[in-house]
Amino acid sequence: MDFSFSEEHLMIRQAARDFAQNELLPGVIERDEAQKFPTEQIKKLGELGFLGMMTDPKYNGSGMDTLSYVIAMEELSKVDASTSVVVSVNNSLVCWGLEAFGNEEQKQKYLTRLASGEVIGAFCLSEPEAGSDATSQKTTAIDKGDHYILNGTKNWITNGGTADIYLVIAQTDREKGHKGINALIVEKGMPGFEIGPKENKLGIRGSDTHSLIFNDVKVPKENRIGEDGFGFKFAMKTLSGGRIGIAAQALGIAAGAYELALKYSKERKAFGTEIANHQAIAFKLADMHVQIEAARNLVYRSAWDKDQGKNYDLSSAMAKLYASQVAMDTTVEAVQIHGGNGFVKDYHVERLMRDAKITQIYEGTSEIQKIVISRSILKD
Ligand code: CAA
Ligand code: FAD
Repeated sequence: MDFSFSEEHLMIRQAARDFAQNELLPGVIERDEAQKFPTEQIKKLGELGFLGMMTDPKYNGSGMDTLSYVIAMEELSKVDASTSVVVSVNNSLVCWGLEAFGNEEQKQKYLTRLASGEVIGAFCLSEPEAGSDATSQKTTAIDKGDHYILNGTKNWITNGGTADIYLVIAQTDREKGHKGINALIVEKGMPGFEIGPKENKLGIRGSDTHSLIFNDVKVPKENRIGEDGFGFKFAMKTLSGGRIGIAAQALGIAAGAYELALKYSKERKAFGTEIANHQAIAFKLADMHVQIEAARNLVYRSAWDKDQGKNYDLSSAMAKLYASQVAMDTTVEAVQIHGGNGFVKDYHVERLMRDAKITQIYEGTSEIQKIVISRSILKD
């Protein structure tokens, strides 16, 4: 067992840390308040190779391992989770999904542009009546020979307005249940494809969340990912990797809040001493430190499972469940350690607390992770 980082991992951590401090921190509060998408920052992240980190260089990716990806996700999320969710969706849901299950033509046509950051992608599974219950797809993709006709509504789609390429899950044959679901590549601008209004959110307000409406959208059959009926498995397999990215995001939010709380507790004085000298505060810091380290181990373990070609359905669900709880608990305590200053925007921890909540909801709620975990351990 080796707990040390390679030179390459250390370089990636430093590059992501520098980017977060120099490019994300300035303006992060204003972007949150104005719900402003980090357009310039995403463009630069693409140029630096952070949008196709795990993609093969032959498709314009950076060819790195999953551990590199989670290291970068942690560092970016310490400062700006609105930006890191864009990185996560593009890397682990869109690029990885296409690379693992798309055909060569689809990779040449779409993946090369997504991995370089020339365009960004969106992953569209959720619907008004199919969130956790993802097999209950109401969106239909009716087989018309050489194309599908797509009808329905997706909601909560990250990068909904800014993406150019959308991976859309839809039901082709209802009688076959989840085996009658397909995943289609849909391009912005296809006739009948409309983007709904942007959501006004509690957290990750700089990210761009929309509903999508499909009215008789004609999608060529060559845009189907995998065999007929593979769409639900595509979504599940892709989400297992996505959950590693969101677990790393949660870890980063927790670690960012902890670092701020640690610094503040050594500066702020009350009753004639730094508040860190009050045991009630020191114990909070001790709890945070232990929980973050435990979360980090689960996140790294899941990334390692994936890199080793092992099954990571269980470890990714465990990492996401635990890291998102740690993100919530740590950010609440970080606000508490900051006292009144924790309640205002300038100190960042209130934003981190608001951002933490989404990690318990998207890419499968905490209750859904417990379903995945309990089914896995009971089966074994
Ligand atoms: N890999 C491969 N196949 C899988 C799988 C996996 N990880 N998980 C399930 N399947 C297969 C099952 O084997 C089954 O196929 P067979 O019948 O051939 O065996 C099929 O999928 C259906 O599985 P279940 O019977 O377990 O289905 P279920 O209705 O009980 O639901 C669930 C399972 C785990 C709850 C699933 O519906 C789920 O994950 N729900 C949460 C949805 C979700 O995570 N949405 C996230 C949207 S994307 C997003 O949120 C992005 C973002 O915010 C940034
Ligand atoms: P519901 O499924 O209605 O769940 C409501 C509550 O019931 C939850 O607490 C849930 O855990 C619980 N519950 C449901 N079923 C069970 C059960 N069987 N046992 C126990 N408890 C249960 N989706 C995409 O496809 N792509 C995206 O890019 C995307 N981005 C998102 C971004 C944001 C900001 C948000 C808020 C959501 C995003 N989502 C996206 C959707 C997200 O994945 C769903 O919100 C999530 O899966 C939960 O679905 P739901 O909101 O319909 O809640």
